[in-house]
Formats: sequence, structure tokens, C-alpha cells
Amino acid sequence: MDYQRVFNQAIDRLHAEGRYRVFIDILRNKGSFPNARCFAGHNGPKPITVWCSNDYLAMGQHPAVVTAMEDALHDVGAGSGGTRNIGGNTHYHIELEGELADLHGKQAALLFTSGYVSNDATLSTLAKILPGCIIFSDELNHASMIAGIRNSGCEKQVFRHNDLAHLEELLAAANPDAPKLIAFESVYSMDGDVAPIEAICDLSDKYNALTYIDEVHAVGMYGARGGGISERDAVADRVNIIEGTLGKAFGVMGGYIATDQTIVDVIRSYAPGFIFTTSLSPVLVAGALASVRHLKASSAERDGQQAAATRLKTMFADAGLPVMPSTTHIVPLMIGDPVKAKRISDILLAEYGVYVQPINYPTVPRGTERLRFTPGPAHDESMMRELTNALLEIWDRMELRLAA
Ligand SMILES: Cc1ncc(COP(=O)(O)O)c(C=O)c1O
Repeated sequence: MDYQRVFNQAIDRLHAEGRYRVFIDILRNKGSFPNARCFAGHNGPKPITVWCSNDYLAMGQHPAVVTAMEDALHDVGAGSGGTRNIGGNTHYHIELEGELADLHGKQAALLFTSGYVSNDATLSTLAKILPGCIIFSDELNHASMIAGIRNSGCEKQVFRHNDLAHLEELLAAANPDAPKLIAFESVYSMDGDVAPIEAICDLSDKYNALTYIDEVHAVGMYGARGGGISERDAVADRVNIIEGTLGKAFGVMGGYIATDQTIVDVIRSYAPGFIFTTSLSPVLVAGALASVRHLKASSAERDGQQAAATRLKTMFADAGLPVMPSTTHIVPLMIGDPVKAKRISDILLAEYGVYVQPINYPTVPRGTERLRFTPGPAHDESMMRELTNALLEIWDRMELRLAA
């Protein structure tokens, strides 16, 4: 076997499809979000504006978060020193789990090293524990949920995105005695639409199913205390398991579930992805704790972010740019072609100091490649005006179509 040739062919296929990924080499400037330095090219670093960060509220630079991390570092050092069971269970972890359980009105919470791991570990373990379990999964669920469902080895039924009639059809056709789990997201982060949580919970009641919601793009962002869409819509008590990340609106790193004590006990005791890995650094946990506490008490960041997203969507639409119909803080522009999306992104970075990553397959379906903007509270109107003008110039240069 010519290993090198096979690997090279795999990479060549990505180039041929125009979806070979290039990671941009940047450093963010603490204290002046969304400004950063870019090291691409030979005359860097050059100043850029970041338009695609999932640190939606700039909490990764918030003084309360940075100070908490500094304090923890100087108090207990860098790493946790072990798994949660062996040496890596710190007081910070316990405090943060308490804070997250309270955020979602649940009995308990459990931390993981990322949102990806929390989905994979929880879904795969839950469905293995429930004999004959069938998982009903929204077709646009994140790769980490799909991995968890696959790793559980259980039967999977995929329902059309946010399609309640299809979900009910599948539930009704399933063995009434089989354990069932409905897995879905609240904010779908590539399109910016939202699940009908209450109606899904009505179906789960009717067909005696458990519900599992990924609120990764909603925690910190929605609800009076940042508990997500389930808090905003006052349905958190109807969802069995709420999963979230500490790496996006909370600005740090890590993932979690919030649910009842028994389910936490089961996952903590049976999930390999929780058991056999070094726990999060106490420095990260201290930062996340400060962030969650801050966003429970302050809505200023959420309000500023929502206002920025609304303003940018309006500007794009007024300019005739193909902004997708998002009802949330996500502002996607449909390009529909991986090569063009990459080209626009490259020009924006090289000529306008605008950093927005093209989103291509498999993150989104082929033919729906897009640029995904995530304006934050600090993206002001003049930055948005410059961005819109830059896009219009590029649209003109590449002879792309504008809406009338
Ligand atoms: C919907 C969704 N769930 C889970 C994850 C994984 O979260 P994390 O980045 O904390 O691993 C992501 C990450 O982009 C996501 O978009």
C-alpha cells in the first residue's frame, strides 16, 4: 500500500471541490474586541476585524473572566491533575456544576472537556443504558450529536428539520413500548433558526419520550439569565436534558449537561468520554464560573449583541445582499458555491482586513456554502457600513447577483 499516495489523494479531493480548509493565523487584542492581528502573508501582523467568532459576547476578554482565571492560576496552578475520579475533582468544578444546574433550573449538572464531548458521551451512554432505545434526531443536528447517536449503536430515526408532523409520524409508527429519546438543538447555528421546543415537548409527553436539547448556541445568549431558548420560552422544566458549551457565549472552554440527579449519576458513572479523561483545567473552570455568574446578572451584553445582529441583517438586506432569514443572532449570507465563498473570504481578509470564514460542506449541505457573520456588542455601525461596502465592491467585481 502506498500510504502517502492515498493520503494525498484524499487531500486532492478537497482541493478539487474547493473545500480545502485554511486556518487563519490570528491573535485577538484583549480589551479591543473585535480587533485582532493576522499573521497570514509576509508583512504581518496586520490589523483585522473578526466577524466570525463564537465568543458572541466577548466574554473571553471580560475583566471578570480574565481576573478569575488569573486568580485561579496563581492559587492552584495550571492543570487539574487527573480525571474527576482520580485527583481532578476541584472545588471550582463543583461550584460551576452547581451554578449551571441553577441556571437551567435542574437538580444537577455535569462538566465535560467540550460541548462535542458532552453530546457524544451523553447520547451514546444514555441510549446504551436504555434497552431497545430509539433516538429521534433532527436532520440538522450537529456532528457531535450524530457521533453520540452512532456510538450508542441504537436505532435512529431522522426527522425533517423542525418538522413536527414528520416527528409525530415517526413516533407514532415506533414500537409504543420502546424507550424513546428526541434529540434536537434550540438555535441551529448555521441557519439561525430556532426549534419549536414546546411543541416537541408536547409530542414527547404524548409518546412518552425523553427530550435532549443542544443549547450550545443559545446559552448565555437568550433568557433573562442566559439559560438559553428554553429559559426564554419558559420550557426548561419540560426538557429532560439540556446540553451547553462554555466555549461560545461564555467565552472560555468546556461543555456540560444539566438534568436530574439520576441521569447525571448515570453519565458520570458509565460514560467513557467523561470518566477516562483529565478534567478541565481549574483555570478554565474558574473563568467559566465568572462568566456564567456575570451573564446571569447582566443582560447588557445580550441586548447589545441582539441590536448589532438586527442592524447588520437590515444593512445587508437593504443593500440587496443575500442574507438568509435568521431569527437569531446569526447573520448568514448565502453564496451557494464553495469556491466563491472562499474567494470572497480571501479578498475580505487580504484587502479589507475583514475576517469571516467561509462555511462549507460537511458543516452545511453542498450548494449552500455561506459566509456566517456573528456581530457582537462591540461591532459598531461604522464597522458594519465598511463591511457592507466591501461586500458590495466584491459583489460587483465578481459579478454576483444582488436582490432588486
Ligand atoms: C450545535 C453544536 N453543538 C455542539 C458543539 C460543540 O461544542 P464545543 O465547541 O464546546 O465542543 C458545537 C460547536 O460548534 C455546535 O455548533
